[in-house]
Amino acid sequence: MSELKPLLRERILRAGEEQLLEGYEALDAATQSSYAAELDALDWREIAALRALLEAPTAHVEGELLPARAFPLARDAAHESQASRARAAGAEWLRGGCVAALTVAGGQASRLGWDAPKGVFPIGPLSGWSLFEIFARKLRASGVRHSFRPLWYVMTSPQNDGATRAFFEQHGFFGLERERVFFFQQGMLPALSPQGQVLRAAPGKLFLAPTGHGGLLDALRSSGALEHAREHGIERFSYFQVDNPLVVPFDPLFLGLHRLEGARMSSKVVEKRDAAEKVGVLAWQGSQLCVIEYSDLPAQLREARDGAGRLRYSAGSIALHVIERELVEELTGSGHALPWHLARKSMSVVDALGRAIQAQGVKFERFVFDALRFSQKSAVLEVERAREFSPVKNASGEDSPEQARADISRLHARWLAAYGIQAPPALEIDPLFADDEHSLRERLPYSPRLVGGGHFYT
Ligand code: UD1
Repeated sequence: MSELKPLLRERILRAGEEQLLEGYEALDAATQSSYAAELDALDWREIAALRALLEAPTAHVEGELLPARAFPLARDAAHESQASRARAAGAEWLRGGCVAALTVAGGQASRLGWDAPKGVFPIGPLSGWSLFEIFARKLRASGVRHSFRPLWYVMTSPQNDGATRAFFEQHGFFGLERERVFFFQQGMLPALSPQGQVLRAAPGKLFLAPTGHGGLLDALRSSGALEHAREHGIERFSYFQVDNPLVVPFDPLFLGLHRLEGARMSSKVVEKRDAAEKVGVLAWQGSQLCVIEYSDLPAQLREARDGAGRLRYSAGSIALHVIERELVEELTGSGHALPWHLARKSMSVVDALGRAIQAQGVKFERFVFDALRFSQKSAVLEVERAREFSPVKNASGEDSPEQARADISRLHARWLAAYGIQAPPALEIDPLFADDEHSLRERLPYSPRLVGGGHFYT
């Protein structure tokens, strides 16, 4: 048995958290030492700041909210000419090697009911490729097309970091250059009780929760990823979430619009499916462009319609951004921290006597899209859902794997249909074979592999 260091004990007592020491003597030696390490890592100043937030009124949308206007999908001649200038400007950036991919993959995939990193989830309708593999192949395809060596930053969490790295190892980094994949971990924070006490998940174990994808900014700096990016000539990140197999990770048009706008952070949107869809909306709050998360948008605004009967706040965020490295440097170096969002939930914790109970607790998260408020200028690009957005979030129904697989096949069927080719419902095109209908042209005619009655172009 090891005594808790007196200084550590004193810090805990000073923070009014004697309950954390309850039952310490009864723990086995290994648990005592891992628990002591967890306690030692607690930043009490930060916890005090979080406690103060428990008292603050729940955040709500203040002032008038104006719908964001996006660079539209339906383009007139002026838009078309702007789009072609933008594509050239974006492609030039890609050729110059100054854009890296950045994926947040620290989430827990709890809604999906999947007990491994979400990126490991098999989603290719015929290939069975994982989300990670599909992304890797898209990155490689862009690298070939625009003559650059893709660099990929992947944020994990302490809970899934080992499994994520092992998966990349097992698959030979999916053909990417292994030294050009940079993993880094997001931070964790303890959940608090509604009264502000630090919660334990078990005797000798704190209830630690990931700090949301907004933890990305600090993690980029503390892990050395930001410095790595600087040394490798990376000026901006093309950011996407781990859940969307239809993502276009390096999009010259989006990059180019961002460039022509002189923006520091930009966003892609789709028209919301309906008022209830669980996506944030892009909107103007005063002079700031922002994303209002679905759970924060009051019902009356969520349902609001314009004169033509369309949703007033319809610019649904697909969580795809271009973020300038310089903005990350500024936000992580200046004390301009992103705000905390509080998630109040029922949690499995232990009480002061070490008994397992279900109790209300509060998790603290930061959202990366709050950085938009500091961007000053932004490009907002509307894209077609069927081409770019089919996230895997739920085990069944909407935003499920089944739907994403069908969406992949449907999109690829459209590409083939552009050349008069009829495909069976089960269809998949390897991104390295073709990653849009234009690149498909050079590969045809071609006899696809037959896989379980489907056509696989690879
Ligand atoms: C998210 C967005 C929503 C957007 C939608 C589009 C938030 C809060 N909301 O909703 O505005 O319209 O996607 O699909 O993001 N992650 C981490 N670390 C964490 C938490 C999450 O890396 O601590 C990652 C996940 O791995 C995932 C992404 O962030 O890639 C999204 O997280 P999730 O909590 O699933 O957000 P959604 O509710 O789906």
